[in-house]
Amino acid sequence: MENHVMNTYNRFDIAIESGHGPWVVDTDGQEYLDFISGIAVNCLGHAAPEIQKTLTEQSSKVIHISNLFWSQPQIDLANALAEKSGLDRVFFNNSGTEANETALKIARKYGYTKNPGKKTKIICFTDSFHGRSMGALAVTGQEKYREPFRPLIGEVYDAKFNDLESVRELMDEDVCAVILEAVQGESGILPAEQAFMEGIRELCDQYDALMICDEVQCGMGRSGELFAYQTYGVLPDICTTAKALGAGFPIGAVMANDRAAQYFVPGDHGCTFGGNPLACACGNTVMRELFENGLLEHVREMGAYLFSALDGLKEKYPEKINLVRGKGLLLGVQMKEGLKSPVIAAAQSHKLLLAGAGNEVVRFLPPLNITEEEIDEAVSRFEAAVSEL
Ligand SMILES: Cc1ncc(COP(=O)(O)O)c(C=O)c1O
Repeated sequence: MENHVMNTYNRFDIAIESGHGPWVVDTDGQEYLDFISGIAVNCLGHAAPEIQKTLTEQSSKVIHISNLFWSQPQIDLANALAEKSGLDRVFFNNSGTEANETALKIARKYGYTKNPGKKTKIICFTDSFHGRSMGALAVTGQEKYREPFRPLIGEVYDAKFNDLESVRELMDEDVCAVILEAVQGESGILPAEQAFMEGIRELCDQYDALMICDEVQCGMGRSGELFAYQTYGVLPDICTTAKALGAGFPIGAVMANDRAAQYFVPGDHGCTFGGNPLACACGNTVMRELFENGLLEHVREMGAYLFSALDGLKEKYPEKINLVRGKGLLLGVQMKEGLKSPVIAAAQSHKLLLAGAGNEVVRFLPPLNITEEEIDEAVSRFEAAVSEL
């Protein structure tokens, strides 16, 4: 078949036609248990009735109005995110990359207001991932992604993740922001240490810099709290989110406290599609599920259940599995050297879909409403894959 899709992804040889809950069905009618969830997006599963209802109801009223006008779904979602994040103001866009790009612009405007031309430095971390645009890529601490696209935005400095001393060495009055993931996703589900998160908060306060938490992957309930920074009791100045916010409908958001947001004024930033009523209605449905229908507690329970099952496999197959780590339903299984791709392929032959990450890690990202029985099924398929290696 002729195919004009640009060659930017290494795709599995599976074409998906439909889905229901944590299951997807390919074009040959084969059913797979999907523990990738569109890479941490489909938090309510496939064809979720709540999202179907939201899409039908809202699209029959109005889909898009631009940001020249107000809409209730956008105001409701901004209010809910502000209340639950502990931050004050929300800007909407369509993806994680755009949310991070917005956060970087807020930080630069903050620095410009405080000390124009000087307070421009941004500190990011080794092995981080923040997106592929020129700004988000600049703060992605992985040279393999950045190198071919230089020059990127300047004044970006890499510190070592979970090494506070490396941040302290770079920190001065010219730093306008430090950007980090509370749990690094793409590089292998690596949680920040408690003292590291607290130390970054203190350094940002000391040097009047903004702490930006990228919660695109670890946010929206996946950690067991709405945002993973909340598991540390540390409040950043800016938080970015996307992926699961719309349960599959594209939407991103940036939350900021007034300290950071006050300098962002009309003309500084914009987004045609950002915050459209349909996307925001989906976001409101996700927030309702998390906070009114018990989904957050469910994540904590199922996260502990999945963790202990995977940890049991680690005990049983110590020659194949190195460790299990993560928070909530954001779990990584680190395989022994060279076993990541083979185990993902073997799992696929047992009709279980798993995503890889850096450092030999296999990611488990089920929908947040996954059940114990479905976890049992996934773990038994994973064990079959591991035992075959
Ligand atoms: C932590 C993090 N930030 C940003 C992004 C980029 O988000 P998007 O692909 O929606 O632009 C990702 C995507 O995987 C991510 O994991």
